[in-house]
Amino acid sequence: MMDQDDHKRSGSKLKGREIILGVTGGIAAYKAVELLREMVKRGANVHVVMTKNAMKFVTPLTFQTLSGHPVLYEMFRLLEGSRIGHVAMSDRAELMVIAPATANILGKIANGIADDLLTTMVMAMDVPVLFAPSMNVKMWHSPVVQHNVAKLKSYGYHFVEPAEGDLACGSMGRGRLAEIPEIVEKIEDIFTPKDLKGRRILVTAGPTLEAIDPVRYITNPSTGKMGYSVAKMARRRGAEVLLISGPTDLTLPRRDIPIIRVKTAREMYEAVMDHFEDYDVIIKTAAVADFRPKDSSRSKIKKISRNGFSLELESNPDILAELGRRKGSRILVGFAAETDQLLENAQEKLRQKNLDIIVANDVTQPGAGFGTDTNIVKIIDQSGRVRGLPLMSKDIVADIILNEILKLLKKREDQSPWPEDWD
Ligand code: CTP
Repeated sequence: MMDQDDHKRSGSKLKGREIILGVTGGIAAYKAVELLREMVKRGANVHVVMTKNAMKFVTPLTFQTLSGHPVLYEMFRLLEGSRIGHVAMSDRAELMVIAPATANILGKIANGIADDLLTTMVMAMDVPVLFAPSMNVKMWHSPVVQHNVAKLKSYGYHFVEPAEGDLACGSMGRGRLAEIPEIVEKIEDIFTPKDLKGRRILVTAGPTLEAIDPVRYITNPSTGKMGYSVAKMARRRGAEVLLISGPTDLTLPRRDIPIIRVKTAREMYEAVMDHFEDYDVIIKTAAVADFRPKDSSRSKIKKISRNGFSLELESNPDILAELGRRKGSRILVGFAAETDQLLENAQEKLRQKNLDIIVANDVTQPGAGFGTDTNIVKIIDQSGRVRGLPLMSKDIVADIILNEILKLLKKREDQSPWPEDWD
């Protein structure tokens, strides 16, 4: 069962929010359609405001159909009786996102120009405003644009900086509209209370690969989704996060989580041991291969003249067990992937590896374990308390695990006999 706290902190923070999406006239205007869909999917009520130039790229009808509201672009259109449209909407909105934001709109707002509906509304808003700029690389790096961006940031406006890559004008570099998942993540971030601020959390994720020869290896079906969710949600809630990741195809929708990429269990061991001392909490979601080939061949093993062959394996270091020995006052969270006797096996791992919390999942259940976007877990703590959770998204599972960790951190701080600055 979810408790009150979990209900408040879980799921999308966009649910039920009133958001204004401002679209300006750049080639990336078509991507604003996808952004709108994603916000609506997450439960937001979105009104779209377009500049005249934006309408040369995408028709208002597209935005109207997908938002379910008329698109605003005229300055003096009346809404709700006699109130001027932009005032009525600005009063109701909880956030304004301008995507794509051209150099022109940044320049106008930075310099107090309000000569159309969109710029006037921005001036009339006292809620967060997020810009997702998109323009030619030279324009983005021009001193004027950079000065305007710095000025807007100093006023408290939020930004999702452009990404690098191919630009519509044929050049390469920074200027592309940030990817939609990154913009959505920034919006979630703006709405999320920073209850993990000041906490330092190390997360491991993904599988490890143990080479048999240059073209074959031993691994497992882990995709890293659970660990990437934990890292993302912890950062969203304000924690400083380091992610140590085995090979995965995933991209994090945030650029403010450093990632150390490793392949083998031994590389993961080295990376974790090099860094764990700087963190208060270590969450080991990684599915580490327990064994590696004793002799990894430098050249490809040929099948010719072989009728099967045996592989000798040796044990990898148990990273979590080593952390359990060296953790000091840190909170150590492990995962247990089980196929039988879930609770007994998980409880045994918690005891043997000296963990504070273990998250157990029965990987044979549909919707749980490797590769899925959902999970079904039981969270077990040192006192033997077991919290069983129903099928839910890995993001929500991550949030609930973080809630349990936060409770434990606070409990320890309350019990600590010394003031925090004691030395
Ligand atoms: N783990 C680790 N190093 C290993 C093996 C596992 O750090 N060499 C960690 C995993 O990251 C996970 C926890 O230990 O948090 C449990 O992993 P799991 O594979 O479920 O269990 P094992 O300890 O490997 O035990 P068994 O394979 O016997 O179930």
